[in-house]
This record gives sequence, structure tokens and C-alpha cells, in this order.
Amino acid sequence: MTSEPRPTRRRAPEVLPQSNDDCWCGSGRRYKRCHKGLEGRIEPGIVSPMRAVPDHIVKPGYAATGEVTRWNESAVKSPEIIERMRYAGQMAADILRLAGEFVKPGMTTNDIDVFVHDLTIERGAYPSPLNYHRYPKSVCTSLNEVICHGIPDSTVIEDGDIINLDVTCFVNGVHGDTNATFMVGDVSTEDRLLVKVTEECMWRGIEAVVPGRPLSDIGKAIEDHAKTHRMGVVRAFIGHGIGEQFHTDVQVLHYYDPRNNTIMKPGMVFTIEPMITLGTWQFHMWDDDWTAVTADGKRTAQFEHMVLVTDTGVEVLTAGPNAVSPGR
Ligand code: MF3
Ligand code: CO
Ligand code: CO
Repeated sequence: MTSEPRPTRRRAPEVLPQSNDDCWCGSGRRYKRCHKGLEGRIEPGIVSPMRAVPDHIVKPGYAATGEVTRWNESAVKSPEIIERMRYAGQMAADILRLAGEFVKPGMTTNDIDVFVHDLTIERGAYPSPLNYHRYPKSVCTSLNEVICHGIPDSTVIEDGDIINLDVTCFVNGVHGDTNATFMVGDVSTEDRLLVKVTEECMWRGIEAVVPGRPLSDIGKAIEDHAKTHRMGVVRAFIGHGIGEQFHTDVQVLHYYDPRNNTIMKPGMVFTIEPMITLGTWQFHMWDDDWTAVTADGKRTAQFEHMVLVTDTGVEVLTAGPNAVSPGR
């Protein structure tokens, strides 16, 4: 009896085929029509079956159906909802930090999903991504050139990778949403700078949260900082209002657009989650309709906090001593 081979990432041989030869991957297609120029990129792995959540965990409406019903939810939250969101935010922050500490080269992104799924349930919460618009897993794991919404699968994490983990908990009827990019082992100087600048971009955005000012201040602050480092700002994915629903209609752009002119009011809760790139800001979508990758294959990072507009400024509901990005 033989044991199953350990999963690995597919790797190109040192000597590459000629354009019209068979591809090295064994597809039987010509190299130029298959992997030419795509060596080293993240590829879809095998997604395991959806995991169950025990009966005693209170679930959001979409958990059973995968169908998301939207209703009007005030952008300004009551003090009672805000208190519940503080709790959900702190739980998400804690699980994110622990998940980041758990990441090791050689494990699969599915191993991280199992960890986050079990820990969330252990703490009495529902992992918000699970079955949200039919998303099949409990956390997003976005490696290297994956911008966001990477689905945990059989892909093995390697030394030198960067990986974004996006954790959201549903507890006491509200969501807490936060993410961070973690560096695995020996990461290049360029990628270290990418991760550092991305975290700084998030904080520049948070510092621009001032009651009475337009949301566009946030995007302006983020874009200015990214430009200083000649990095790109992804435009297709944005921050969002959040509360009893995972995503509400409040939109927070991460680049400057004067039309993003909603005035920030005390009691509003939304996320700031810039995705910054080493190359182009343009993206491609995989056939799974979730995984967004940079169009040029260059690396990208993301950080996310959930913030409350206060009478005088901002309270970061997912920051604090338990957080990966604890505060400034
Ligand atoms: N947590 C992500 C965000 O920051 C949303 C993930 S949606 C999912 O908005 F379905 F992919 F989980
Ligand atoms: Co979010
Ligand atoms: Co998120």
C-alpha cells in the first residue's frame, strides 16, 4: 500500500519547451497555448466539500440557501448595535491573528480554512463567508498575485509567499470583518515593502475618517500614499457598509473619486480595505467567478479594518491588542 503523495504546487522544469512543443504540464496542448509566460503563477487547486456548521450556532439568512436577501439598513447604527459590532470585530481580529500565527510553509490553504472554521464555531460564531452568494469556504485565502476572494483549496503555501487572510464572524446578529497579509518565511525585499505600504495605506485611510467630511477623503489619502511608492490601487473591489448585513450600500473607494461624496456621520460603520499592487491595478477573474488576480501576475497585498465614525473622529472596531494591525 502506498500513501497519497503530498500535494505540491505545479512547477515548470528548468528547461522550457519551444512554443510549438507540448506544454510541460502534461495537458497535451501546445506550450504557447498553455503555460507560456505563466510559470510561477497561482493556479486553481482542488476545493473540498463544504463543511457543516452545528445547529446551535445562529446563522445568517443566506447560510441555508446561498441566496443573499438585501434589506434597507441604516448606515448610522444604534449604540446597542455598535456594542454588538465591537464584540464581533474583536472576535474577527482575534481569529485573524491566530490564523496568521498558524500559517506555515507546506500546509494548504484548505488547512487554514479548517482552522478558521473550527475556531469561529468554538467561539459561538458563524463564519460569514460560508455560503455567502454560494462562496464555498469559511475564510478567503489570497496568495501572491491573488487580489482577494481566493478560495481555500489544495494549494500548498511555500516559503517566500505572501498570503492575505480575510476573516469575518457573524455573532449576536452582526458581522465583524477584518483582513491582513502575512509573510511566509523568507520574503523578498520588494514584497516586504508592498506589505508595509499596504498596511500604511489602510491607516492613512483610517486617519481620514472625520465626521462631516466626504468618504472620498479616504480614497484620496490611500491613493496619494500608494503613488508615492509607485504602487497601484485596485479599483474593482471597495470598502463597504456593514452591520446586520455583510455588505450594505455604503461604498468606500480606495482611490480618489469626487463622486464618492457621502458625508461621514457619527454612528456609521464601514470597512477600509485597500488592495495595493506592485504593477497594474487591473484584474482578471478566474472561471470560479471569485478569485481575482492581477492582470500582470505581479504581487498584491491587502489590509482591512472595520471602523466606526465617532463624534470627533474614528474608532477602529477590529483594532486593539488582539489585532494584527493593532493601531497607531
Ligand atoms: N470579507 C470580504 C470583504 O472584506 C468579503 C468576502 S465575501 C466572500 O468584503 F463571500 F468571499 F466571503
Ligand atoms: Co470587507
Ligand atoms: Co473582509
